[in-house]
Amino acid sequence: MINISLDINRTLEFVSKKQINAFQGKIISGHHQLLDKAGKGNDFMGWVDLPSSISNEFLDEIKADADRLSAKAEVFVVIGIGGSYLGSRAVIEALQHQFSSLVNTGRPKIVYAGQNISEDYMADLIDVLDKYEYAVTVISKSGTTTEPALAFRIIKNHLEAKYGKAEAASRIIAITDKSRGALKTLSTNEGYKTYVVPDDVGGRYSVLTPVGLLPIAVAGFDIYALVAGAVEMEKFNRTTADIGQNPIALYAATRNALYQSGKTIEIMVNYLPTLYFVTEWWKQLYGESEGKENKGIFPAGVSNTTDLHSMGQYIQEGLRNIFETVLSVGSSKHKISIPSDDGDLDGLNYITEKTITEVNYFAELGTAIAHVDGKVPNIRISIPELNETNLGQLIYFYEFACGLSGFLLDVNPFDQPGVEAYKANMFALLGKPGFEEATKAIQARI
Ligand code: PA5
Repeated sequence: MINISLDINRTLEFVSKKQINAFQGKIISGHHQLLDKAGKGNDFMGWVDLPSSISNEFLDEIKADADRLSAKAEVFVVIGIGGSYLGSRAVIEALQHQFSSLVNTGRPKIVYAGQNISEDYMADLIDVLDKYEYAVTVISKSGTTTEPALAFRIIKNHLEAKYGKAEAASRIIAITDKSRGALKTLSTNEGYKTYVVPDDVGGRYSVLTPVGLLPIAVAGFDIYALVAGAVEMEKFNRTTADIGQNPIALYAATRNALYQSGKTIEIMVNYLPTLYFVTEWWKQLYGESEGKENKGIFPAGVSNTTDLHSMGQYIQEGLRNIFETVLSVGSSKHKISIPSDDGDLDGLNYITEKTITEVNYFAELGTAIAHVDGKVPNIRISIPELNETNLGQLIYFYEFACGLSGFLLDVNPFDQPGVEAYKANMFALLGKPGFEEATKAIQARI
């Protein structure tokens, strides 16, 4: 059963059903191309049938490794950047206790490294790793990305100094290419347990490989249900490319119709702090997939109602090139009613007996209507609750819609050539061997 529904009614005063349905032909061909692994970027379409190709035995192996490391670690360090960490962080933070650092969850605390080049971040992390038992996963498909390589070199040294080389090696799992890259060579030499990032799955589409599944399992969440949810969405998606029936097709068509009408920025809106990293994952997925050849919808994100007190003003009255997509969650895990107060000095007695989720819902609805009045079209993606199954469905929903959208835009949604530009300059400035000419050229510019 598909638990995701899509409501585009609040876009229809900005784009017509005819404009949206005009994409049906391209959607059908894009849907075919993705399912047949044909068209632009077809060597990176392994994610399309990834969920249904994952066996229970494979999940058992990941779960066993996760439990083995959890048994001896109070802290689990996930080293990776971009697609190599955002997917796991999105799922973990969507599901975990929001003050997990202060409560005993029975699982290691998950911390992240290699997603920045901050010396103080690293120093603070080392301070923590001095005090707690820990284990590590280092994730890099290329095996050569600077940020995680730098973090891993420092953490590996710390781990070996703390536990000795053999025990340190047993506390490390590397997730990388099956044969290429510095991390693969290092893992082979040091005897680390490794998992493979499949050749045909790019970083930002890799959350349902060990890249995402291992950290999620270490955090104690149900990777079987997560994958099962994705399988449900994968199977449903195969049945139809009809915009009227498939919410994936409808989302891709609607956002592209809005883009064509001049709405060049899509803001993914959530009303739960637990969804902050789902938005970050979505931003990476869509930004790296679509933003090329001088085109693409700019993916932005807000977390409401927090950001209604910062970005809300701009969204209501700023430049009118925005549309919003709200990821709405029907129910919360807990119920807290607002108590009545005899004095009612804060004037809140009119909402006593309402739950906080009900108040949040009216904030969401009121905001959507206000923003539409302010000429900001509003798409609404709804899931009934936050759990592994629904997150699995959502991951596949967003991934497939992203592939389709890339094809509607006529770009390759599976490469990211633009990411290399900053790396080349950084290497030149750092004096990396092989970059001598570039070093001279860039130094002449500063
Ligand atoms: O989506 C992508 O391909 C990128 O965001 C990568 O995940 C990111 O650059 C990290 O690359 P790697 O896993 O090779 O270290």
